Amino acid sequence: MSKKILVSGIKPTGRLHFGNYFGAMKQNIDLSSSGEFESYVFIADYHALTTVRNGDELRTQTIEAVASYIACGLDLSKVILFKQSSVPQVTELTWIFNNLVTMPYMMRAHAFKDREAKNEDVNLGLFDYPVLMAADILIYGADIVPVGADQKQHVEYARDIAGYYNRAYNIDEFKLPKDLIVESVASLPGIDGQKMSKGYNNHIELFCSDEDLKKKVMSIVTDSASPEEKKNPDENNIYKIHKLFLSEEENKSLRAKFENGGYGYKQAKDELFETLMKWREGKKEKYDELVADTSFILNLLKEGGESAQKKAEEKMSVIRKQVGLQ
Ligand code: ADP
Ligand code: TRP
Repeated sequence: MSKKILVSGIKPTGRLHFGNYFGAMKQNIDLSSSGEFESYVFIADYHALTTVRNGDELRTQTIEAVASYIACGLDLSKVILFKQSSVPQVTELTWIFNNLVTMPYMMRAHAFKDREAKNEDVNLGLFDYPVLMAADILIYGADIVPVGADQKQHVEYARDIAGYYNRAYNIDEFKLPKDLIVESVASLPGIDGQKMSKGYNNHIELFCSDEDLKKKVMSIVTDSASPEEKKNPDENNIYKIHKLFLSEEENKSLRAKFENGGYGYKQAKDELFETLMKWREGKKEKYDELVADTSFILNLLKEGGESAQKKAEEKMSVIRKQVGLQ
């Protein structure tokens, strides 16, 4: 039996953070490395163009995203890792899909509605974002799409669009993909308690300098309870971040420290910092090494791009015939 297909992308719009790691990257790394899937993991540089306006920045952030994935343990022998733009067939499929969705349907997308509500300008690329993402997912025949909770609607759009195509051309061409969202980490809080996001600048980067890491941890927002007071861990941002790194046993003992009192926020932050430094051991060195000499990553992306393109082209040669372009 052929393996199930995993597809997941991440936008290179800034350095990756722990929200990205626990919400999406970790699932991609664990599932790909299990060898149970045919895995396509890519850096969504076409999607990044909706906001990034500097070529050097986009190139650098693309390399940094790949370096982060590798440093975090992605098994390169079990995954096709590539740049979205190495497969221009996805933009071709996007154009075909564009003709099957209506404006009112696209106007229901959360990302679009949020921007409209804030009176922000929405470029056409941003408006079409979910259709490009559907093309990403469907062109490789994804069964599962590991993402954080905020991407759930986008995977639903991919399912809808697969259905629209299948009905329009009266053929069972596209499989309906499923999202894979791990509820316990679906929305990790940032240092201010809101969802961790580059957009809110409340994120903790995976591989920033030790000094910046310390600064971020020390600026986690807390209430003004004194060290002696008993504290509710579930209402505490330090705990909510720290618990993700702990075994069940360690977690129990951390909860007890908060609940028993005598555990001040300075100490709680110092301990979180130590945990983060320990998590970074080995990984940070690997990351620094990879970004210092980009030749390894550039080669890898070239090979990955070729494999992904081959798979996408197989699909597109069928699609072009179905729609009458060939
Ligand atoms: P950001 O909000 O920082 O711009 P992205 O939108 O680029 O992050 O998200 C990349 C991936 O990481 C997506 O799958 C998203 O769902 C996941 N993700 C981002 N932030 C979080 C978070 N705070 N908790 C869980 N998952 C997250
Ligand atoms: N929109 C996703 C994000 O912001 C990135 C992405 C692009 C993606 N294409 C994808 C994720 C396909 C999963 C599958 O994180």
